[in-house]
This record gives sequence, C-alpha cells and structure tokens, in this order.
Amino acid sequence: MPRRRVTRGNLPGRRHPLWAAADWTAGAPAIHTHRVTGPVSLTPPTFDDIQRAADAIHHRLPVTPAWSYPALDALAGCEVVVKHENTQPTGAFKVRGGLALAATLTPAHLAAGLVTASTGNHAQSIAYAARLHGATATIVVPESAPEAKVAAVRLLGANVVVHGPTMTEAVAKAQELAGRDGMTYVDPGNTPAIIAGHATVYLELLTQRPDLEAIYVPIGSGSGAAGACIVRDRLAPDCRIIGVQSSAAPAAYLSWRAGQIETAPCLTRHSGLATGRGFELPQSVIVAGLADFIIVDDAEISDAARVFAHLAHTLAEGAGAAALAGLLKATSHPDRVAVICTGGNASADEIADLARG
Ligand SMILES: Cc1ncc(COP(=O)(O)O)c(C=O)c1O
Repeated sequence: MPRRRVTRGNLPGRRHPLWAAADWTAGAPAIHTHRVTGPVSLTPPTFDDIQRAADAIHHRLPVTPAWSYPALDALAGCEVVVKHENTQPTGAFKVRGGLALAATLTPAHLAAGLVTASTGNHAQSIAYAARLHGATATIVVPESAPEAKVAAVRLLGANVVVHGPTMTEAVAKAQELAGRDGMTYVDPGNTPAIIAGHATVYLELLTQRPDLEAIYVPIGSGSGAAGACIVRDRLAPDCRIIGVQSSAAPAAYLSWRAGQIETAPCLTRHSGLATGRGFELPQSVIVAGLADFIIVDDAEISDAARVFAHLAHTLAEGAGAAALAGLLKATSHPDRVAVICTGGNASADEIADLARG
C-alpha cells in the first residue's frame, strides 16, 4: 500500500469547492436508504460543541491518564505519551461519543429507542448511554463482530441483531429498523454529537500536554481523528495529527487520498478498524486536517499490542494498538508525540497472543 506524505499546507482549505459535501457523496451509496429520525448531519461540530460535550460527560468519565514509559520511549526513540482510553468503563474511547450524544437527544428521541450498527465498541457506548438515560438500544452487529464484545453489549441490556458479513450490511439493516419501528437512528460516523464526544479525548490530552508535536490516531470511520483535528486547530495549531489504518480495511485512507468517498475490502481482524467505506462527515474534516496517514498491516498492529503489553504494562485490543504501530513504522517523527490507546477490549485469542515474545 503506497504511503502519501503531505503537509497541511499542501492541502486545499476546507472551504475549497473540491471538499464540498456534494463531492463527498458523489458516487458513494446514499447515507440514508430509509426514513431515519436521528441526528445525522454533514456539519462538523465546533470547538464550542466539543466543550459542551466535555461538560456533559465529565461527571460520568474521569480524565484518563496520559503518561510515558521509559522502555517504550527507548524503543520509539522519542517521548511517547500514551493516552489511556483503554481505562474507560466500556474499555474504549467510544463511550465518550455515546454519552455526549445522549446528552443532546430530546426526550422524544430517547423514548423512541436508539438503533445503530457496530462491531462492538460503538455498540457498547450506545448501550451504556441508553441504559443511563432509560432508553432502549438496538444494536445491529455484523457476523464478524467478536463474541466478547457482543456479550458485553447484551450485558448492558441492549437488543442485539446479528446481520450480514460486514458493517456495510449492518448499517443498512439499522437504518431499515429505524424506518420500520420509528427508532432514533444513530449513524456510527456521520453524527456530529458523537464526534464532539470523541473529540474530548483531545481536549484532555492537549490540556494535559500542550507541547505535543504529533498525535497518532487509529482510524476506522475517522470520527476520532476528525475530533482530534478540530481540537488541535484551536489548542495546538502546530501539532500534527497523523491517521493510522489497517491495509486490510483501507477505505478511510483511500477516501482521504482520493478526495472522495471510496469503498474497499474490509478484511482486517482488528474489529475496531473494520469499515468498508469512508464516512462523509469525518472525511470532510480529516482531508485537510491530517498531516499524514500511515497504513500498517494487521501483523504490525498485533506486534504493537505486544509492545504495549511488554513495555507499557498495557492491555490493548488491535485497534487500540494501531496508533503505536503507526508510530513504530514512521520513518521519522518529532521528539514529543502521543499515541491514543483507544481500546482494551482484546479477545481471548488476542490476550493469548501477547505472550508471544
Ligand atoms: C478501539 C477503537 N479504536 C479505534 C477505532 C476507530 O475509531 P473511528 O471509527 O472513530 O475512526 C474504533 C472504532 O470503533 C475502536 O473501537
């Protein structure tokens, strides 16, 4: 997979007509194929929206640790700040998005029940938030979703519908159920309140460490990376946001590179990164916001998970280790960087694999 190195200065500004929302949807499947009632939009959240999201969730989620480990620094050849989203109550940063979204929903939206599609961590986030707000949640999971994550979603009281081989079919099914039963559809990538919630990771991080020169962010839909770019623009304009994705599910990378929504095979074993097409809203932000986008293979991601376990005493699932894999693959990097350990929901097989040297 070729890598493209760009600087933000090389890219057109967000207002350039090439990046208008219409261009992003050209040639791509429509976002909605059924009547939906949820807050889907192509308008990114503002920095003020992100601060409101932080205010809405901080009493439920303490600030997560951001610190370094001498052995990891030595391996990487720079100071590596690890932002520990694996310590969240659902085991992943996605819980921020569900809680931030729920805080913006009307009583009618909540009473209708929420429906979404996910391979696991967004599912747990919506199930967790729905339970706290007394709403029902229906989660469509693809057949490939890890058993442990599906079990966790059920434990949170959500109805689980297993449908289709990949997220593409699961998303269509969730939209169909929303239209059929009048539920509130929550799009996993094109929901501004969810991006605002995910962005609170970066509000915390850049407040904890305003001196960071680069932040490596794993990308599936790109919602986390979009949030990172919006916060960076306000708090640390010189900090480079670098996306990392698996070569076995490169739809966001290909969309970013082409400047339009692309689809791609979704064969990664790392479920948090398993998307088959770019998402319009995050792409509209990351296209100009990312300084670089690094592609790593699934084995490099598993290697990084082992590095986390051995050198940083940290349990990461594959998607949670992808940022570190990107840093370790980078040919050069600045002296002070952060990697987001986005999730720790490793499967039994992944945990067993950590023991391999
Ligand atoms: C642990 C983990 N890391 C990274 C990602 C990718 O995040 P995004 O979809 O916001 O790009 C996900 C998505 O579910 C995830 O669960």
